[in-house]
Amino acid sequence: MVDGERLWKRLSELAEIGKREEGGVARFSFTPEERAAKNLVASYMEEANLAVREDAAGNLSGRREGRDPDAPAVLIGSHVDSVSNGGDFDGPLGVLGGIEVLQTIDEEGVQTDRPVEVVAFTDEEGARFSLGMIGSRALTGMLSREDLRHEDRDGVPIEQAMRDAGLDPEKVGDAARSPASLAAYLELHIEQGKVLEGEGLPVGVVTGIAGPVWLRLSFSGEAGHAGTTPMGSRRDALAAAAEVMGIVEEEAASTGSTVGTVGQIEVRPGGINIIPGGVELSLDLRDIDEAVRDRAEGRIRERAEEACGRRGIGLSFGELQRLPPAPCSEEIRASIAAACEREGIRPYALPSGAGHDGMHVAELCPMGMIFVRSKDGISHNPKEWSSREDCETGCKILYLTVLDLAGQT
Ligand code: GLV
Ligand code: MN
Ligand code: MN
Repeated sequence: MVDGERLWKRLSELAEIGKREEGGVARFSFTPEERAAKNLVASYMEEANLAVREDAAGNLSGRREGRDPDAPAVLIGSHVDSVSNGGDFDGPLGVLGGIEVLQTIDEEGVQTDRPVEVVAFTDEEGARFSLGMIGSRALTGMLSREDLRHEDRDGVPIEQAMRDAGLDPEKVGDAARSPASLAAYLELHIEQGKVLEGEGLPVGVVTGIAGPVWLRLSFSGEAGHAGTTPMGSRRDALAAAAEVMGIVEEEAASTGSTVGTVGQIEVRPGGINIIPGGVELSLDLRDIDEAVRDRAEGRIRERAEEACGRRGIGLSFGELQRLPPAPCSEEIRASIAAACEREGIRPYALPSGAGHDGMHVAELCPMGMIFVRSKDGISHNPKEWSSREDCETGCKILYLTVLDLAGQT
């Protein structure tokens, strides 16, 4: 069975890479921190006797052949990049849990019918380029030239960051996998919510992943003197943006399921005594029900236009990404549920509000996810925490599910 101590030790070692004074980690894509994390993960893959390689998008994978090397593989994946000042578990648990499963299979001398691979995808979080899931997009062959032009805050586009990291953006198409090469995709991840904690359960079976829409809202008003311009004759872009932020909260909350977040704001020129002339806001809207999300988006757009029209402010919307929700495979859900039962755990089904690489991989093969209980539901925060025992339990469920899906004759 899986070695929980080894998994925990590796989680702790990986958490030291990119550790910041504030206590969290920062490992953005194509940076020395992400490179160091991938190097450490590659060393673990070697300890697990896996054949290690990195593809044209920087996805790092380790493979163990099955009885039939031509059979489609069972792919286990997650990521080692992080948000800024993120936690130690979001991503690493899935990658290191996958390696632990394969090392256990190796140590037990188990021969699976199908090959099994574990992958650390490049840039799941989108923290640097406001895109995210770059590596898994590349796996499906859907990472476009336009995607590669997304820029970070310093104006560096993905394609340049790739070159700086020794990758050739022209070759990113080589990272594409055929549906025929993959039998199933599995991801072990922390829940990042409070549902399992409330149920008193260490793990859960994911039903599907909510679909995100990421927008950039640009407000243009007129900069002016804060002391001399009467309140009635201002065109304050930030006051308009503040009204729109209120609309986002109201409209998302009124659905009961959609979540709406403004996580970035930029104000120009940004002086204490200057009326803001320009503002950019990011908007992240998600729901497991696409129609509900899209209706909320429609109402936000309509009301934002009305508010800006009334205030004499120009408003434009840019779309960074739009993904539909991704349902998990019924067959994989049943396999995970059977593994839970075998371990004496009540199988509990729940959706994922967070995005995951499986949303893209699901275009190639059936996809399933196992959630591990999060303490207080906190994530994207240095306080993110799952216990050693729960991580081990999640890894055991992954092990049993992998053996079921990879087959043993
Ligand atoms: C990544 O964690 C996301 O859900 O945005
Ligand atoms: Mn994640
Ligand atoms: Mn995350």
